[in-house]
Amino acid sequence: MEKEGLALPPAIVGQIDSQVQPGQPFALRLPPGPVPHSQPLSGRYFLVRCGSEVGIERDGEWSIFLRRALFICGRQTVDQAERWQLFLPPIPAEQGLYQQSGDADGAIVADQGLAWLSKRIPGDLLNLSGPFGNGFALLPDPHNLLVVVDIRWSAGWFWQLLPLCELALDRGGRVTILFRAGGMTSVPDLVPWLPLQAEVRAAVDQKQWSDMVRDTLLWADRVCAGVPPESFRELLHLVRETRIRVDREFAQILVTADLLCGFGACLVCSVQTARGGNTRACIHGPVFDLSEVAG
Ligand code: FES
Repeated sequence: MEKEGLALPPAIVGQIDSQVQPGQPFALRLPPGPVPHSQPLSGRYFLVRCGSEVGIERDGEWSIFLRRALFICGRQTVDQAERWQLFLPPIPAEQGLYQQSGDADGAIVADQGLAWLSKRIPGDLLNLSGPFGNGFALLPDPHNLLVVVDIRWSAGWFWQLLPLCELALDRGGRVTILFRAGGMTSVPDLVPWLPLQAEVRAAVDQKQWSDMVRDTLLWADRVCAGVPPESFRELLHLVRETRIRVDREFAQILVTADLLCGFGACLVCSVQTARGGNTRACIHGPVFDLSEVAG
């Protein structure tokens, strides 16, 4: 009998091709091939080793942390290699948990793995495995895609759903992006990266947000969302209130979970389902049908 999820893809070595900054995507050159160009990338992730790839560096820097999940936010083919964009999450606020080893200033950081990644420079090598996870699924034909992202704390969901907008437009579809804004990231900061053909709207309070989502749902053939768990129920409620019939996969959500092994073994990515059970986000998600995780 085939064992569910126990298939670890081989490691890939990539070379950093841009500045690396927490809370921003960075570029990485990889050998061609991990994912065919026709497949959606949004919602899929690589597990990236947070320790030196090169033997000579390891003589002086031998700390190594658990792999961190970095979500894909783009890919282009350049000179027979693939230039991927991966999102490096913001490093959580200082919590006084760990002392950064070997740091002259003795800085305290809350996530040493992310801190290690944030110190990489162009030309450094990274060891990755993946990509993992079930990403968002679009309709094969041109359709109206509604992308709903909350950027009040970070623009992470925007970056993670951006390739979906480009794929839908490439397929001849139309895209509307709704931002829940009014926090640390502002929509004008993201304008240079917004697809020209997409319609963009932003709400800064709860009523504006609910009205905007409700109005646009009537237009949409598919809804793909990156919002915090406390918004799942409201979004599902708006979908059910607006649509007479809600087909499976009409509304999909990217769930936040700790992603450690990526193949179903460690259970740290367990998320609660609407029926009261649990499921593993690494292999059954991290993108789910909204009705599966919002009761
Ligand atoms: S990340 Fe280990 S079981 Fe999902």
